[in-house]
Amino acid sequence: MDPEATLEEARPRIAACEDTAALKEAERDYVGKKGAISAMLAEIPKLDPADRKAHGQKANALKQAILELVQARQAALDARDLDAARRADDFDPTLPPPVAQRGSLHPITQVTRELEDLFVSMGYEVLDGPEVELDHYNFEALNITKDHPARDSQDTFYCDETGTLVLRTHTSPVQVRAMEGRTPPFRVIAPGRVFRQETTDASHDHTFYQMEGLVVGKDVSVAHLIGAMKTLLRGIFGRDLDVRLRPGHFPFVEPGFELDARCPFCDDGCSVCKKTTWIELLPCGLVHPNVLRAGGVDPEEWSGFAFGLGLSRLVMLRHNIDDVRHLLDGDVRFLEQF
Ligand code: DAH
Repeated sequence: MDPEATLEEARPRIAACEDTAALKEAERDYVGKKGAISAMLAEIPKLDPADRKAHGQKANALKQAILELVQARQAALDARDLDAARRADDFDPTLPPPVAQRGSLHPITQVTRELEDLFVSMGYEVLDGPEVELDHYNFEALNITKDHPARDSQDTFYCDETGTLVLRTHTSPVQVRAMEGRTPPFRVIAPGRVFRQETTDASHDHTFYQMEGLVVGKDVSVAHLIGAMKTLLRGIFGRDLDVRLRPGHFPFVEPGFELDARCPFCDDGCSVCKKTTWIELLPCGLVHPNVLRAGGVDPEEWSGFAFGLGLSRLVMLRHNIDDVRHLLDGDVRFLEQF
């Protein structure tokens, strides 16, 4: 078979292909397993040994030339199709491109980031702690001993039979971890996910979010605590809100308080504040000496305050969400609203 003649025959055939299918077929006829070039290669053993090399080279050169013709034709066909699509009636090149569907930040992420920015601007460090926590940090070091009734109210998920590992029931264990790694004075916050073995309903979920705060320094007092909480409330609600302290009992603070804020949504009672004009928002207190000691801080020299903000609850208040379970069920119809 004459390679030049084959190429001359292939050239017009390839040029005449009007679509990719025809082009593929032509390609197969020349370079396919049963094509002309395979046939040329199959002749080699029958040739005079002196001619074999030259024959093989010619066959390969032909193959290369044909593949280049095919490629060029394919490029021409693609350009033609694109051009046709551009000219088609429904194609308007002046229209903006289609908008890609974008996600948005989860409302919990939004509030977490806002609070992180606020506290960082006040010199706090943002900390992370393990969600699978040692009983020691979740309870023991927080002055919640083995037989303490507070353990029952915390409905713990235990991770092993010995009860050494738990899913943290609050972000407070990060307090102790923070003290262990630092020398006072320091200020930290620790936002994160916490877990309780809870029967779920509109106001309880097994997984929710809190933000712990801890300040340790010289002569830290309730006045500092109130000041910090007022700043926090201003950051959240955008204006000053009156606060009041009620006694609250938590083993890791003494004295402990429930800090209420004036309802930001009404003047004379609404469904959010249950007609009381106060919303219960922030459990807090002065860090118990035992907790300071557990964190390696000398209570004779240093004191501190701590608070625990319920981020899930805060998001619910802010967006008037009536069921905490919406926050984690991942329904895009809910999430799209934020
Ligand atoms: N850890 C407590 C809880 O989840 C909340 C809390 C109360 C945190 C008082 C504190 C605090 O830092 O001082 O129920």
